[in-house]
Amino acid sequence: MDTLIKIAYLVASTFFIFGIKFLASPKTARRGNLFSAIGMLIAIVVTLFDKHVLTFEWIIIGLIVGSVVGTIMAIKVPMTGMPQMVGLLNGFGGGASMLVALSEYYKIHLGTVKGLSFNTELTITIALSILIGAVTFTGSLIAFGKLQGIVTGKVVKYPGQHPLNLFLLILVVAGSIYFALNPELEWLILTVSGISLVLGVLLVLPIGGADMPVAISLLNSYSGLAAASTGFVLQNEQLIVAGALVGASGIILTNIMCKGMNRSLMNVVLGGWESAGSSGPATTTIKGNVKAVEAEELAMLFDAAENIIIVPGYGMAVAQAQHAVRDLFNILEAKGKNVRFAIHPVAGRMPGHMNVLLAEAQVPYDKLYAMEDINDDFPNTDIAFVIGANDVVNPAARHDKNSPIYGMPILNVDYAKTVVINKRSLNVGYAGIENELFFYPNALMYFGDAKEAVNKLVHELKNL
Ligand code: TAP
Repeated sequence: MDTLIKIAYLVASTFFIFGIKFLASPKTARRGNLFSAIGMLIAIVVTLFDKHVLTFEWIIIGLIVGSVVGTIMAIKVPMTGMPQMVGLLNGFGGGASMLVALSEYYKIHLGTVKGLSFNTELTITIALSILIGAVTFTGSLIAFGKLQGIVTGKVVKYPGQHPLNLFLLILVVAGSIYFALNPELEWLILTVSGISLVLGVLLVLPIGGADMPVAISLLNSYSGLAAASTGFVLQNEQLIVAGALVGASGIILTNIMCKGMNRSLMNVVLGGWESAGSSGPATTTIKGNVKAVEAEELAMLFDAAENIIIVPGYGMAVAQAQHAVRDLFNILEAKGKNVRFAIHPVAGRMPGHMNVLLAEAQVPYDKLYAMEDINDDFPNTDIAFVIGANDVVNPAARHDKNSPIYGMPILNVDYAKTVVINKRSLNVGYAGIENELFFYPNALMYFGDAKEAVNKLVHELKNL
């Protein structure tokens, strides 16, 4: 039986690994989700057999409540609310790891299961699960609150903040080590739990809303580490493997996001950017003329163009304009134009945001180009059409050393012969800074909600 269970765990792990591999491309992402879900199903069923469960009532109740809540959340959440939902789920993972580790502790401490005793390896992993799990739990709740607008999205700073956090960190690490060597000290592990919960709040509170997706990705990695550590507590290889996969992929994703914004992780964690949101001033301090264009004139411009690059951003997601954009792509292709999409790694509000939306609208995946693969082609492009993007095309990132996005790689849309920018106003993007691109001599503003504006353009193109 033992060998069978180990083989089943190995099969589940293999499903997880292939699941992650398939998730790497939108073409195979659905299969990746399915593989991961099958892996999880195998893992749950095998664990239930493995643990010789005597009564299933509580497990069934948990399963039903969890499934109902999870399904409702997944159906109801809008695409733009996905980062906070992921944040919340990470938090639950961390909280679960903490509670499981605590219950394992009490099982031995109170002697409810005969024949079990503490050893240092076990107490170290219990302490680690509690510490990381607790920080992940409260940190994720704050991250969720910030993105949902329940907690301030601003960078929160107060005197002595970093020394206080460092002091608490040293306290919990030292407390955990002392507990690992003296597991009979129940008050100590409860104190470590309490301080870790507070630390989670204090570590995430200073991070501005603009950096929250990075923080969530980091917390995702923590939740994996907490789960892996709990895997050691329970001596469950499956949990160790799954936790390690989450921990590693979370940290890789965090690194990709930081690179995409040219920021160090330290800068993010210590509270770098203020969150301006997309609700900044409609007026601008940049001097110059803005040239606006209407749908009819724009249709003629597109009709005369040969090479076109479409650059989607957060505004396309908000307006749910992806289907209108696909219609535009279709009509331009039918007219024999070379139409491609340029995708910035941090366009939108979560990794792969634009890819997911465009894939949903059936835009052929081979028309989507990563920034590094298309950036050199802008000078040979007749029209770069920016739809609801702002920060990721802001040329200040190249030359303005005082700009918060200085050094962030951007899409070189301003090198195109004409750059058309669709958004509702001259408002700032997520980094809260104005965009000089709108005043460039080769720039045309096409004002309006992305869905309506693109639909109008398609209509005019059809009428030509
Ligand atoms: P943003 O810089 O946020 O700009 C989006 C623009 O869309 C806004 O300026 C807004 O202008 C416009 N907009 C809003 N609603 C619209 C609508 N219905 N129709 C048309 N336009 C609309 O977007 P971006 O260029 O995609 O940049 C993403 C930002 O998020 C970057 O600063 C990035 O660092 C940050 N970020 C991203 C991630 C990931 S992983 N994607 C993670 C962390 C941070 P109007 O109000 O004038 O319409």
